[in-house]
Amino acid sequence: MTANTLFTPFSLGNYTLKNRIGLAPMTRMSAGENGIPRQDVFDFLTRRARNGAAIVYTEAIVTDYESAQGYPGQARITTQPQIDAWKRVVEDIHNENSLAILQMFHCGRMAWPDVNPAHRSIAPSALAPTQDNPLTQAPYPTPEAMSAFDISHVISGFVETARGAFAAGFDGVEIHGAHGYLISQFLSAYSNTRTDDYGGSVANRFRFAREVIQAVKKITPAGKLLIFRISDWGIADMEVSLFANRQDYQETIKLLANEPVDAISVSTYAFDKDAYGSGQNMAQLTREVTDIPLIICGGIYDRATAEQALQDADIMLAGKSLLLNPNWVADIKENKPLTRFSSEEAGIAYTPEPLL
Ligand SMILES: Cc1cc2nc3c(=O)[nH]c(=O)nc-3n(C[C@H](O)[C@H](O)[C@H](O)COP(=O)(O)O)c2cc1C
Repeated sequence: MTANTLFTPFSLGNYTLKNRIGLAPMTRMSAGENGIPRQDVFDFLTRRARNGAAIVYTEAIVTDYESAQGYPGQARITTQPQIDAWKRVVEDIHNENSLAILQMFHCGRMAWPDVNPAHRSIAPSALAPTQDNPLTQAPYPTPEAMSAFDISHVISGFVETARGAFAAGFDGVEIHGAHGYLISQFLSAYSNTRTDDYGGSVANRFRFAREVIQAVKKITPAGKLLIFRISDWGIADMEVSLFANRQDYQETIKLLANEPVDAISVSTYAFDKDAYGSGQNMAQLTREVTDIPLIICGGIYDRATAEQALQDADIMLAGKSLLLNPNWVADIKENKPLTRFSSEEAGIAYTPEPLL
């Protein structure tokens, strides 16, 4: 173990976190027609707060009723019943002295048109991922390149969803700019070959993210948090680096740091992995160009890895560790020997089986 920062407080905007531990956003695909997750999925979130996580993220919440949905059973927060359902969970999380953050998501070209109300797949460019959709075992459809109307409509979806989140009492929203979904598709030259103002240079590829951030910021109540998640990897074509090199990534982070975001959340496969042959990890490369609060995630499974990750970041998120071990925060507090869960084991998240 390297240092003892894990259980120390941290100031994030106007909030004081009781420790540096958060539950990573995890999609559960449990919502019915009404767009509301199953009760046991809500209970799972509250239990993670009760176990001591200072931040509890929701699953990725779909931002519109048109083309944002990528998986069956994804949740929304744009109707009053949806807002009321989440309000109860947020209250429960607050009663545990934890923060509730809602993640907002548009899948872009990762769409499965059958589960999308408009049966459309839209993206920066008409380029499909090269791999098949693992859920349908069929190729992803080639998306339609987004028009100016599509762009403004999608931005409105983020704004409406953020409004829903704040009406439900969430402490903040996160814009999902990671994992090869829509915003990430704009950021990456791999999926964005546009020749207009939204493609080409790093600044142009960042434009869509910037417009989403600016629009959401306008309706974010004073004192509430706005966070942006970014990654170098995507769910499809996993072997492809979404940023061409270190410079491409760091230029993007510099642009992000000029925006009104309270924290940058960096998602990795493994937090300590070398990035772009730089001899530095993703958190270090991020820190090198900004001192905005930094959240790190990826491969943290015990006290030692959690403390190690915090050498280069302010807050750590655990996905699989907290998904599959409801006692994880207490366990790391006691420095129990723990092992790393696999993605296969995490597959239970998508089944109807309630998680402890
Ligand atoms: C079941 C499951 C669902 C996930 N859903 C999301 C999601 O909705 N949004 C997101 O940004 N990341 C999602 N992720 C990625 C996690 O937030 C996290 O970045 C990843 O699991 C790596 O962290 P870990 O090694 O601690 O598990 C998901 C991961 C799992 C295992």
